[in-house]
Amino acid sequence: MVAERNGGTAVCPGSYDPVTMGHLDIISRAANVFDNVVVGVVNQPVRKQKTIFSADERVAFIEEQVTEYPHVQVKPFDTLLVDFAREHGAKAIVKGLRAISDFEYEFEMNQLNRMQAPEVDTLYLMASPQYSFLSSSGVKELAIVLFDILHLRQRAITHS
Ligand code: PNS
Repeated sequence: MVAERNGGTAVCPGSYDPVTMGHLDIISRAANVFDNVVVGVVNQPVRKQKTIFSADERVAFIEEQVTEYPHVQVKPFDTLLVDFAREHGAKAIVKGLRAISDFEYEFEMNQLNRMQAPEVDTLYLMASPQYSFLSSSGVKELAIVLFDILHLRQRAITHS
């Protein structure tokens, strides 16, 4: 916990489909450093398949989890990330880095964003060890499999 925040505004962007404990770890750590944190929820990610949850649902899930941080706001966006950051006067974009597999994608995004807005730097926080292999896609996969198992069990009970 940092005693005094003195860092201006940061944007924590992502698809958050759905938000995980790993995302919340990064958001709360950014909130300990920056005066204001705007969590930017991509309305429809360009490179990924259609989200399971709507932007409003994804925003609401995060809002429920950040009530203890009055200086954290959650907003959807469908512009370029750097335009969203500029709109909020953010001097930094904060992202989490998990395993090395994140690096290549984030490196590309970093170059893309810096080319358009060199004044907005991106800072990377290393994932806390307990969340290093936690991902939204993993959570969705587990949820779907568990639902299938429960559904089959339900059918087995009904048919016995
Ligand atoms: O990995 P994620 O969570 O889907 O990341 C989303 C985001 C916006 C942080 C990432 O795609 C990014 O850094 N994009 C930069 C390019 C951009 O502005 N794309 C438009 C988003 S609407």
